[in-house]
Amino acid sequence: MAAPYIRQLDEQISRFLLARCHNIADLRRLARWRVPAPMFHYMDGAADDEVTMGRNQSAFDDLELLPRNLIDISKIDTSTTVLGQRIEFPLVLAPTGMSRLFHWEGELAVARAAARAGTIYSLSTVGTHSVEEVAAVNPGPKWFQIYVFKDRGLVTEFIDRCRAQQYHALCLTIDLPLTGNRERDLRTGMTVPPKLSVKSWLDFALRPLWSFAHITSDPFTLANVAHRVPAARPGDVNTLQAYIGEQFDRTVTWDDAALMVQQWNGPFAVKGILTVDDAKRAVDIGATCIIVSNHGGRQLDHVPAPIDVLPEIVAAVGDRAEVILDGGVRRGTDVLKAIALGAKACMTGRCYLFGLGAGGEPGVDRALHLLKSEINRDMALLGTRNVGEIGPQHVRYRRRVRD
Ligand code: GLV
Repeated sequence: MAAPYIRQLDEQISRFLLARCHNIADLRRLARWRVPAPMFHYMDGAADDEVTMGRNQSAFDDLELLPRNLIDISKIDTSTTVLGQRIEFPLVLAPTGMSRLFHWEGELAVARAAARAGTIYSLSTVGTHSVEEVAAVNPGPKWFQIYVFKDRGLVTEFIDRCRAQQYHALCLTIDLPLTGNRERDLRTGMTVPPKLSVKSWLDFALRPLWSFAHITSDPFTLANVAHRVPAARPGDVNTLQAYIGEQFDRTVTWDDAALMVQQWNGPFAVKGILTVDDAKRAVDIGATCIIVSNHGGRQLDHVPAPIDVLPEIVAAVGDRAEVILDGGVRRGTDVLKAIALGAKACMTGRCYLFGLGAGGEPGVDRALHLLKSEINRDMALLGTRNVGEIGPQHVRYRRRVRD
């Protein structure tokens, strides 16, 4: 009975706090405050010593932007096209698993906000809302991301369901045959579904709005696969790792990917590419988009930052496929640097998840609004009136001023 009032109160508090967030780092801080530690650290954390995650962001600092001035910048057009679809700004929402961990409305809140902002939402195989539920709230462009389960019949089923719901593109993630070593999850006692434990009870108690919403909303489920794949084993301290270890198929090869490209017969992205070799193989089997990504540093630690390998991958396959950069993006300037180095657009997961954790759908709106405004302002300050004008002349690697 009290649920609608408490949710209203939650939304009012969210709006008040969100108005005081002026960048993605502010949203991250607010999310940390509002989301219980196991869930916050699941989204915020990465593998081993998190060297790659840190590098994903700091590598952008090795690049400098080179503005041109005295150009009429009274009109700025941030729109672009990705795989033939027009989007309002060059940032695509990456597939991220289990968004209901961060806010009870999960993927639906993100999908609605993406449609409102005029960009692409990518739903994950391990989402907590289904292909159909997301399509029902998102009239905009959407992609579906594929993980291959041992139940291989699921891939054909996904393809049929996505076609029926008019998803525009499929995105095969190739860097997660098993999960990376996420030690924060071990320390916080992260479980899927979230479970009260001796370790985490205080954390849940200190976040009563999150906890109330979680308890009073629909049961947590991996909505795209639950009808064919057994639920994660409850009670295991690192259940997600165990679940993926049990259910994901480690035998997947490029031949299987080629078959998926043929079956889908439409725009097809391969995500998790870090080498020219893999980029060429993906394009050779018919992929139309290469997503340069290291899964936010969550898989193999010490792999390169996407922005560091972007130029060589663009040089190798940029004339045959669109190249998207995913990893470390937190600012409009990061997006401009990637585009100047040849990316068609960027992708972000954590930026919108911090918004979701900070304040549900209005939080995602805030994250997208902030990033779009930064891109707009930064393009003007760079002296570029549309995305097509951004080029290699606008970026260089930082030179040491003193030795
Ligand atoms: C799933 O995609 C994860 O990174 O946990």
